[in-house]
Amino acid sequence: MKKRPGKQLLELTVNDEFYELAVEPQETLLEVLRNHLGLTGTKEGCGTGECGTCTVLMGDEPILSCLTLAMDCRQKEIRTIEGLDRENGLTVVQDAFLQQGAVQCGFCTPGMILATTALLEKNPNPSQEEIKKGLEGHLCRCTGYNKIFEAVEQAAARKSRHGDSGSV
Ligand code: FES
Ligand code: FES
Repeated sequence: MKKRPGKQLLELTVNDEFYELAVEPQETLLEVLRNHLGLTGTKEGCGTGECGTCTVLMGDEPILSCLTLAMDCRQKEIRTIEGLDRENGLTVVQDAFLQQGAVQCGFCTPGMILATTALLEKNPNPSQEEIKKGLEGHLCRCTGYNKIFEAVEQAAARKSRHGDSGSV
């Protein structure tokens, strides 16, 4: 791929697709996902690391894509809300959020779902405190948080009932 002056070549994998992109050195991962790849499920809230709405997974770890330079994602594997491994349309976590009424305007939801997915992959039976800690830094202006915490508990319970056969 031919680079434009000032741009740098970025190679990364997003949702199991390999990409080569020419990006400005100061561009964030959030900008690359939304503006270059059209993955607008990742939301920009504050843009300064305060709200968690821009969360994506780098490997298994949640990261704030608004604070991550795209060039720091060279050769990394990124997963966004569009790339979750769904069975029958929704993951267990997404379905639990829906069932519990943990989604209102939905703006915080992709970040919450990805943070919850990462939490349950590491800790399938988190305590209430661990759930709160796992979602700290994720702001929601609508739900009052209780429905979200209940959704995480429901997802964990369903996951443990069904063993590891289903995707989180
Ligand atoms: S948009 Fe990244 S933390 Fe708010
Ligand atoms: S559902 Fe609206 S910000 Fe969380």
